[in-house]
Amino acid sequence: MPWTISPGPRDPLAEAPETIVICVLAGAVAEHPTVRAVNEALDGALLEHARSAEFEGKADQTLEVPTLGRLRTKKILLVGAGSEEGLTAARLRSAVATGVRAGASAGGRLRVVLPRDDADLRVAAEGAGLGAYRFTKYLTGDRRPKHELSRIDVCLPSKPIDAAGKKALALGADLASAVAIARDAVNEPPNVLVPETLARIARGIAREHKLKIKVLDKAGIRAAGMNLHYAVGQGSANEPRFIHLTYAPAQPKKAPARGKRTQKKPKRIAFVGKGLTFDSGGLCIKPAQGMGEMKSDMAGAAAVLGLMAAVAVLRPELEVHGIVGAAENMPDGSAYRPADIFTSLDGKTIEIINTDAEGRLVLADALTYATRLEPDVIVDAATLTGAALVALGKTYSAYYATDDELGSRLERAAREAGEGFWRMPLIEELTDQLKSDVADLKHTGDRYGGSITAALFLREFVGDVPWIHCDIAGPVLSERAKGVAPKGATGHAVLTFARFVEALVE
Ligand code: BES
Ligand code: MN
Ligand code: ZN
Repeated sequence: MPWTISPGPRDPLAEAPETIVICVLAGAVAEHPTVRAVNEALDGALLEHARSAEFEGKADQTLEVPTLGRLRTKKILLVGAGSEEGLTAARLRSAVATGVRAGASAGGRLRVVLPRDDADLRVAAEGAGLGAYRFTKYLTGDRRPKHELSRIDVCLPSKPIDAAGKKALALGADLASAVAIARDAVNEPPNVLVPETLARIARGIAREHKLKIKVLDKAGIRAAGMNLHYAVGQGSANEPRFIHLTYAPAQPKKAPARGKRTQKKPKRIAFVGKGLTFDSGGLCIKPAQGMGEMKSDMAGAAAVLGLMAAVAVLRPELEVHGIVGAAENMPDGSAYRPADIFTSLDGKTIEIINTDAEGRLVLADALTYATRLEPDVIVDAATLTGAALVALGKTYSAYYATDDELGSRLERAAREAGEGFWRMPLIEELTDQLKSDVADLKHTGDRYGGSITAALFLREFVGDVPWIHCDIAGPVLSERAKGVAPKGATGHAVLTFARFVEALVE
């Protein structure tokens, strides 16, 4: 990222940055020390302006305050963080992001002043980094942003930031960068981002953070027996890739002192991401309308790659595997077809019904691969079905869990991360829809319950490993900038997964 995030000076008005964003609590605007100081410098004009503009500090409400040349800072912005009682991590993150996004246009140095001295600095830095994000790579000339942010600093209203606070800021900034990895990958056009590009991004993460990496090319996928993955990729000139990143904790866990009871903690977790760099539907081709959105069909893979970068900075005491099945689903003379039968990595025969249900095929082989690592938990993320969108809309992911305790852990992580995840049922009687006359399984069921039958199909490949499946088709793209989400790719699931991993070993 072109900007840095660092602690600001003790006095939030010192050093005259280009922009100051003041985060205020609802109903307590006049009580914020920095608001008071600016109001005084402007002879009461700030509060007067806030009153006439009906600015109350409601969540994500913003107000630009004209400084009339009386302050060296050009732009002062107020952003609401909502009520004091409701000031959750998600609220704070969202308010900071909204303020930074609204303030970023002046470029240069931007300061965020938080609503309270005890505000969570990691969460604030996450919000700052997420709000500053823009995807401008393909804009030229006049279309380029006029001013670039060079530095974001963060102040508490009436307290300097100590060493622990500094660390928290740095961690939050790194986590926002991890989300940006996912956003950038999803925003890239599909002519640029092909399966090998995902492998290149993964190699970059491995190099930077010293993670282990294994990449299989088309021939390697075939040789490994991942025939479902291979079939999906066989109709494209952009050949498939299978990617496996490994994070291992630096030191083996110290043996607990004798006689001390320790809780059983998981030792190994595997994340699996759907990486369809473009999904045309294959021979069962999609309608033109909306097909372009299928450049985001690798958002599950992007989330897993972003997560691995996050894990590398969080350094949790467990092994984390990031697995991506990457392919492009295209129709050509060698494309796979309805009625084809393939043998999956774990030996089941699969009758192809609809070539547009490609994601579950790639995932099936990747899940089997994951089970062979003998993890304590498998989590997958996939833009798997339009049905998930129909069910929950554009802001929530559907998730399925074979273990209730694990499911509630994911939900808690999502709440803290400020992301929407809603549990859906694995309805047993729908498995009948996957019965085939000619093979072990069909890979699709009826139209109704489409997200559930997709999940039930995947479940066939996880053996008895506790498993969570996330159908993230809805929230990976946003139609407008709101809270932490920019317009376009959101990087959805990276923060939830990061929090989930952290909490597993807490
Ligand atoms: N990638 C799509 C799912 C999707 C649709 C994601 C819309 C985001 C927005 C997936 O590969 C797909 O095409 N699924 C089909 C499955 C059907 C053929 C059983 C679907 O949902 O229509
Ligand atoms: Mn499809
Ligand atoms: Zn797809």
